[in-house]
Amino acid sequence: MIDIHTHILPGIDDGSEHMEMSLQLVQTALESGTEAIITTPHCYRGVYDNYAGEDLQARWDALHYAVRRAGLPVHLYQGMEIMACDDLPELLKTGRVWTLNATKYFLVEFRFGEDPAYCQKIITSCIDAGYWPVIAHPARYYFVQDDPSIVYDWYRMGCCIQLNKGSILGENGKRAQQTAYSLLRHSVVSCVASDAHRTYWRNTDMSQVEQSLLDDFGEEYTYMLLEDNPDRILRGRRLVGYKPVPYSRH
Ligand SMILES: [Fe+2]
Repeated sequence: MIDIHTHILPGIDDGSEHMEMSLQLVQTALESGTEAIITTPHCYRGVYDNYAGEDLQARWDALHYAVRRAGLPVHLYQGMEIMACDDLPELLKTGRVWTLNATKYFLVEFRFGEDPAYCQKIITSCIDAGYWPVIAHPARYYFVQDDPSIVYDWYRMGCCIQLNKGSILGENGKRAQQTAYSLLRHSVVSCVASDAHRTYWRNTDMSQVEQSLLDDFGEEYTYMLLEDNPDRILRGRRLVGYKPVPYSRH
């Protein structure tokens, strides 16, 4: 598996607390069948000011070195989870934020209670600037829980839709789980990632969610969500998917 959303870069956000924990998170990922990880620290103005630059690169290099030194056979790649903001297209164009493995794909999150019209505006402006949005954990957003057809629209616009394992497993609450399954049944989900934070809280173990997906959706769909599309993101290639099922509007 390839995990495209993790907070295993230590000491930089609410993710891994120190290098030792990061190595444990990598070890857990490997044991559960993950062979490649994109590190995606929060980039959230005023909260986690982790912009591209020498400091972030040095932190990433230190993790990479420690993983090599520990003999952990995982492939690490760079990325960020960027909180949506008005100047996101400029941040992308000027290289102030990292896309996923330096492809056109970028991981973006929204505030849980955001105005859907604002999301639409930001997504459109980034696509117009030539970038490909990967929407982080939509099943957790309250406005998506109220109206999941928003995700159908995003999917139709060409967005990559990323679910968290915790939403599928019910760790983000009942509504997030119901929404996640609804999105999966409507074939508007592109991939699933851990969004791992800490060894004791939202970790990198993907075995349980893999089993749930296999049980509920079968081998082909699970392969697409956990291997094929994440690999395509890493390589900057177009994603695959099934024909999405429209939501009936009331
Ligand atoms: Fe995250």
